[in-house]
Amino acid sequence: MSTLERPLSNPEWHNGFSLPQHLYCDADVFASDLDTLAKNQWLLVDHESRIARPGDYFTVEVGTESIIIIRDKSNAIHAHYNVCRHRGSRICLEQQGSVRALSCPYHAWTYELSGELKFARHMAPDFSPQAHRLNSCHVGVFAGLIFINLAPGNAPSFDTFIARFRPMLAPYCLTDSKVAARQVFPTHANWKLVVENFFECYHCKPAHPTYCSVHDEMKMLAFGAGPGSSDGLGASYLETFAAWESMEKEAGRQPDMFSDGPDTPYFQSAARLPIGKGHVTESLDGKPVAPLIVSHGEYDGAQTGCVFNPISVLLANSDHAIGFRFNPRGPLSTDVEVFWLVARDAVEGVDYDPQQIKALWTITLLEDKTITENNQAGVSSIAYRPGPYSAQENKIAEFGAWYQRLFAQCGHE
Ligand code: FES
Ligand SMILES: [Fe+2]
Repeated sequence: MSTLERPLSNPEWHNGFSLPQHLYCDADVFASDLDTLAKNQWLLVDHESRIARPGDYFTVEVGTESIIIIRDKSNAIHAHYNVCRHRGSRICLEQQGSVRALSCPYHAWTYELSGELKFARHMAPDFSPQAHRLNSCHVGVFAGLIFINLAPGNAPSFDTFIARFRPMLAPYCLTDSKVAARQVFPTHANWKLVVENFFECYHCKPAHPTYCSVHDEMKMLAFGAGPGSSDGLGASYLETFAAWESMEKEAGRQPDMFSDGPDTPYFQSAARLPIGKGHVTESLDGKPVAPLIVSHGEYDGAQTGCVFNPISVLLANSDHAIGFRFNPRGPLSTDVEVFWLVARDAVEGVDYDPQQIKALWTITLLEDKTITENNQAGVSSIAYRPGPYSAQENKIAEFGAWYQRLFAQCGHE
């Protein structure tokens, strides 16, 4: 007898199990997820060094929306909807560029960098340019990192959102950094499968031989995907960690780690952990790959991981940092957008080689792309049933509960 005679998909979610199929596959669920994320979260989109001069801009896709991130003449950063106030054309057609003003390619309405309409031909005498400025969304900048929020009214407080990361990232001179490399890993999987994969290191041993050659094995068991990712594993490592932590605290370098539970708005976490194996930074051979970005002036062998929310992540090492944006593009499609930061005055080809900086995470993310796409293919099958989590997947169990709470708030069952 076929075991598939049971119901094809169990619509109920059970704590400690992967999500029911429709939550990973359905277009309606995806649309609801995207709306909830865009309005309730601050989304990490890039580093401000990408728009170093007034008039520099880039465009960002959030679902079907296109947002222009632009620096104005007073150096303020704006986030405008890429929608002309005349008859709605896209204004910026390139992914990035530099302009003196924003001019619509359709009928040439022209806007200031800050969004005011400054020129429109042959309009009625009572036409109000002031009433036709570009629509904006919320923008926040912290440590040079640009975040946006698409809530139609007030956004959640940005200061509150980033408050606990201030001490974590204080030693890293990220404001004085620049993007050394960038890569997008288009992944044929729902955004929640991508996030879940990032929230557990149960797969590290079978899937990531290179990553495992860089990081301490017991650390990965205890904290592989950050604080709270393992439940009661790696007890012997905790002693090693406690000794290292107290030394680092004495040196004034170790802030407290934190890990939010499901009842929080952003499901944030952060920790500074030693890489291990005598490695001073997170590179293939554990040796420096760029000049220092830390204020304490030495390669300290630690990495600070910051989960601002499940789709906005930063890893900071002594000599480079890595930003991750898990950008949901469709029910079965997520762009993993990654940028690598180095010191602003570091010289490419002299002080650093972008390929060397990118190497470890490029290998790791290509492996992640493969395993996550395999995961989606199986989850889309009639044979998929939610499966139980291991003790090394604690963070995903919490993510499922966080997601269910956020999801239920939106009125979808
Ligand atoms: S739609 Fe932009 S100027 Fe007409
Ligand atoms: Fe992975």
